[in-house]
Amino acid sequence: MDSSKIYAIALDGPSGAGKSTVAKLVAKTLGITYLDTGALYRTLGYVCLKNGVDVNDGSAVEQCIKDVDVNIAYNGGVQSVIADGVDVSSEIRTPEVSMAASAVSAIPYVRQKLLGLQRGIAEKSSIILDGRDIGTVVLPQAEFKFFLTASAEERARRRFDELTAKGQIVTYEDVLSDVVTRDRNDSTRAIAPLKRADDAVEINSDKMSAQEVADYICSAVNGDLI
Ligand code: DC
Repeated sequence: MDSSKIYAIALDGPSGAGKSTVAKLVAKTLGITYLDTGALYRTLGYVCLKNGVDVNDGSAVEQCIKDVDVNIAYNGGVQSVIADGVDVSSEIRTPEVSMAASAVSAIPYVRQKLLGLQRGIAEKSSIILDGRDIGTVVLPQAEFKFFLTASAEERARRRFDELTAKGQIVTYEDVLSDVVTRDRNDSTRAIAPLKRADDAVEINSDKMSAQEVADYICSAVNGDLI
């Protein structure tokens, strides 16, 4: 591909499929930007929780977040997410915020608010975005589209390892139940549900490491897949 041209890689899939680990590896190898779009939904979910707002109440959520300024900053290639000037990158990584993000992401106002932000970032440079609706809604014209899956049990096991490594006290059963609930919320919501774009390449990562998935994506982008 023409190396002077800006391009986008859409990496969608359910929670815990390994999208962010893979996307970081791909971004590093190809020297492009990485945008974790889930962090944006998490930020709005977090702001609602912090303000005691019911995340399932569309009008209360809209009222709470309408003037919140969400932004992204990059320091040495690492993404931080900023809400009204405050870096909330670590606060948004709890199981409570995961569920809140899933709930608020079903609200049309929330999706609309984040759409322009995502497209604006993607216009600036070559980028890989991970999310649920990148290939279908945010960037339907993306040059490369992948849909990363894994079984619910495998995804829960990875999430459990990740949370316990950070010192969080969780049980595997609770993590699995959250994964199943979020899958259901994310794929059954009326707008921009989690769905493979017709032209996305599906990758099942049950038996692949993140590095193997990243290598596969980089080969596809570099045009050297046989
Ligand atoms: O990828 P994640 O687990 O950080 O995402 C948190 C929630 O945000 C997820 O349950 C669904 C929602 N989300 C979305 O609806 N669309 C995206 N592009 C990214 C995330």
